[in-house]
Amino acid sequence: PAPLKVALLGCGVVGTQVARRLVEHADELASRVGTRVDLVGIAVRDVAVPREDVTGTPLADLLTADAEALVDGADVVVELMGGIEPARTLILRAIQGGASVVTANKALLAQDGPALYAAADAAGVDLYFEAAVAGAIPIVRPVRESLAGDQVQRVLGIVNGTTNYVLDRMTTEGLELDQAVKEAQSLGYAEADPSADVDGYDAAAKAAILASLAFHTRVSLDDVSREGIGAVTADDVAWAQRTGHVIKLLAIAERNTSGGVTGIQVRVHPALVPADHPLAGVHGAFNAVFVEAEAAGELMFYGRGAGGAPTSSAVLGDLVSVARHRVLGGRGPVESSYAALPVLPADAA
Ligand code: NDP
Ligand code: HSE
Repeated sequence: PAPLKVALLGCGVVGTQVARRLVEHADELASRVGTRVDLVGIAVRDVAVPREDVTGTPLADLLTADAEALVDGADVVVELMGGIEPARTLILRAIQGGASVVTANKALLAQDGPALYAAADAAGVDLYFEAAVAGAIPIVRPVRESLAGDQVQRVLGIVNGTTNYVLDRMTTEGLELDQAVKEAQSLGYAEADPSADVDGYDAAAKAAILASLAFHTRVSLDDVSREGIGAVTADDVAWAQRTGHVIKLLAIAERNTSGGVTGIQVRVHPALVPADHPLAGVHGAFNAVFVEAEAAGELMFYGRGAGGAPTSSAVLGDLVSVARHRVLGGRGPVESSYAALPVLPADAA
């Protein structure tokens, strides 16, 4: 098959890692997809800005400020710009032009997901977004696909790495909130505007996406009751510790009956978690999500919830999936992808 042309929108914390891995692991990715997956361009706001890991490398030659032209020539568009516009217009342009789309943009999906999914359905292309919820953790596909035959009762967990990192640093080092937020920004965990993390918008967007998938309904950001961690002080954190608790920002989506009507309630708020609860052991920018389903019982998903490299794993997994669909028509992994490594004797040292 002809090589697939991949357009990358954004070369920031996540985009840079995706670009690097696309180029460095090109042969492996080609064997997994069944054809080459060529990065043909990377759209940024300002081509002249010096970029760690990019300036002085072959990736620098791929930078462009003309995102529209890049989208128009692509088979797959990977959107890692963030924000509502121009991300939405570019994604719709890609879909209407017949390209498959991968995005990590939870803010956009929580606001306009239904319109984007409908456009993708109408055009018969994939719109994948594993990286939009909980970074590296595979949670979107398990909830959307593996649990599609079950009845989910509740989804509960830590879905924002920045606030978990901040609360952790306040607990272990006695830092003030602002100081810990600056650290999270420098580590690449925070959104472009970190108030999206601190005020709970990011967690609420992820909760809306998870709830929509888990309960097969449409939940938008406005449906989520939201309280962030902006009012949490070092004194609050110390008091929680003295009483055998830790403070965690939780996202909860559950099936409830109110006034005789059964529906879905979704909320995000700081909570006191007993120190011996598994969620209390989720440190740094890690996330953890519990899903309770009628037949499956309780499931727990855990891993790195933020950061460039972990998030790039989820983005590239989606990229391989949508690329396989284009090459194989959805038939699943190609045989050649199993032949890359020799199998060693089980007792080899
Ligand atoms: P960054 O702010 O680090 O990078 C954004 C990139 O997009 C930059 O290269 C920027 O260009 C480019 N960009 C932004 N607006 C435009 C525009 N109008 N035209 C052209 N280029 C534009 O963001 P992140 O990499 O952190 O996040 C990207 C997406 O991934 C967001 O949706 C975020 O929510 C999501 N995400 C982030 C995670 C993380 O840990 N950071 C984890 C999971 C999801 P320039 O460099 O020129 O400014
Ligand atoms: N800012 C987000 C977080 C990035 O801290 O969880 C991952 O979605």
